[in-house]
Amino acid sequence: MKKIVLPEYNTNVLRAVLSLRVEEAPIPKPKENQVLIKVHAAPCNPSDIAFLTGGYNVVKNVPAVPGFEGSGIVTEAGEGAEEYFGKKVSFFTQQNEDGSWAEYVCTHKSDLVVLDDKMDMDQAACFAINPFTARGLLDIALLQNTPAIIQNAAGSQVTHFIRLMASELDVKVIDIVRKEETAKKLKKQGAQHILLEDDPDFDMKLKKLSLKLDARLAFDAVAGSFAGRLINAIPEGSELVVYGGLSNKPVSDVNPLGLIFHDKVISGFNLGSWRQLLDDEYFEEISKELQEHFISGAYQTTIQGKTSFDEVSKGLSAYLKNMSEGKMLISPE
Ligand SMILES: NC(=O)c1ccc[n+]([C@@H]2O[C@H](COP(=O)([O-])OP(=O)(O)OC[C@H]3O[C@@H](n4cnc5c(N)ncnc54)[C@H](OP(=O)(O)O)[C@@H]3O)[C@@H](O)[C@H]2O)c1
Repeated sequence: MKKIVLPEYNTNVLRAVLSLRVEEAPIPKPKENQVLIKVHAAPCNPSDIAFLTGGYNVVKNVPAVPGFEGSGIVTEAGEGAEEYFGKKVSFFTQQNEDGSWAEYVCTHKSDLVVLDDKMDMDQAACFAINPFTARGLLDIALLQNTPAIIQNAAGSQVTHFIRLMASELDVKVIDIVRKEETAKKLKKQGAQHILLEDDPDFDMKLKKLSLKLDARLAFDAVAGSFAGRLINAIPEGSELVVYGGLSNKPVSDVNPLGLIFHDKVISGFNLGSWRQLLDDEYFEEISKELQEHFISGAYQTTIQGKTSFDEVSKGLSAYLKNMSEGKMLISPE
């Protein structure tokens, strides 16, 4: 089989992307409770980009095969995973093993989402992480009964799903973007409250709008000093949930007085820990509900293109230039 290999980590993301190479390798054998998946496609997510630079939570021994999710068919099942043989799946893989940017990959049965036959396999390639992440974040909004939320990097796929889910629940959304063109796109899609990061009055506008809409929950995918700007601007008693680190910088510039005297809280969210809190039955229920939305077309991941293994560096460079255009799928087919 063929696989994409990262020879070594490189803090310069473009150099890391350009260093990717295609190698031949034997098809792996699934161990106990694992399955072998013939991969249909796998996306490149911001977590993959962080991984290529050595800046992610998962650091594998290099050379390594990147890719934390994908879609495909189970072609072999290890002992204890026989029930998955022949199933269409979306999958997740974060162990120190080869990732999804390969023709075949092994993963643990607990990291599979079994798919309805009607699921489109390109959409399924981006199904195991982002829609569930949006759902997990929305669960926090529901628990807190907040009438409105704030989210930055709002041209992303996660924030797209959050907007869709929030509108079903009548929760208002304040979207923050860094590019005028992204703001225009969101406006066309019906987003009502859009703020531009580099607006000179950004902090004042966010303060006013979040007070007006009573937005007491902010989802931060950027971190760095932006996290500080968010928590400083949002109302008393608000929570900032950091779920991404797109700036590659530590959370900073937080006014401690807000935390001490104004009941503001900073917390973190990750999909894996949220998933572990759910019992399997509830997770299945969420998965079924999300799949129905995908099958009906109500929910879709925007896909900007597909790249072959041989053109992977070119494809990923295009994604890096404009992430808000949608996912770039890596396809062995
Ligand atoms: N914690 C979890 O469990 C979890 C799970 C899934 C995703 N995430 C996180 O969720 C975030 C979105 O993921 P995704 O797959 O939805 O992203 P995506 O669709 O690939 O889009 C990335 C978005 O981030 C914007 N962006 C990139 N760097 C930025 C920066 N420094 N400042 C502001 N905006 C920036 C891009 O805007 P431009 O077009 O302007 O570049 C683009 O809109 C990522 O941080 C990801 O790591 C977390």
